[in-house]
Amino acid sequence: MAPESAILIAVQIGSLRLESNLFLSPLAGYTNLPFRLTVREVGGLGLATTDLVNARSLLEKNPKAFKLIETSPADRPLAVQLFGSVPEEMRDASLFLESIGVASIDINMGCPVRKVCRVGGGSAMMTELDKTAKLVQGMVEAVKIPITAKMRLG
Ligand SMILES: Cc1cc2nc3c(=O)[nH]c(=O)nc-3n(C[C@H](O)[C@H](O)[C@H](O)COP(=O)(O)O)c2cc1C
Repeated sequence: MAPESAILIAVQIGSLRLESNLFLSPLAGYTNLPFRLTVREVGGLGLATTDLVNARSLLEKNPKAFKLIETSPADRPLAVQLFGSVPEEMRDASLFLESIGVASIDINMGCPVRKVCRVGGGSAMMTELDKTAKLVQGMVEAVKIPITAKMRLG
């Protein structure tokens, strides 16, 4: 049951209907499957998101990346947060995630850490707007599920 004080409003993102406007943000090192299931048990969650996942690592079938997207039937609807700066990799990782039933894909455009920005991902994407717009366009055109972006001000 959702906490009685929570005001839940259904949300539509493209073709995806969510029962509530409460989302679990990506938290690297925390938002793994057990954590997401625990938060879902509290009730009222409209969408949960994974930790940020390197698109290339996913395509290379890196076991660590696969652990991050590990899911179960109770873990729905699920968004996977991708980071990367190579348009073809972001597009192909999106196609793969759609094929395994992920509900939506979030692009990490806010992470300031060196590991992510060094490869042109995270908040570095906001410094190259034309390149980023083309990358997003390639993802949006490749899949039917919604593509969202999470960014920070400042
Ligand atoms: C430990 C930790 C890990 C985070 N990992 C991510 C991440 O993987 N992707 C992302 O977009 N934001 C990440 N964030 C940012 C959060 O999703 C959130 O935007 C931020 O904490 C601000 O929300 P708050 O004011 O409720 O803390 C992380 C934040 C923390 C504290």
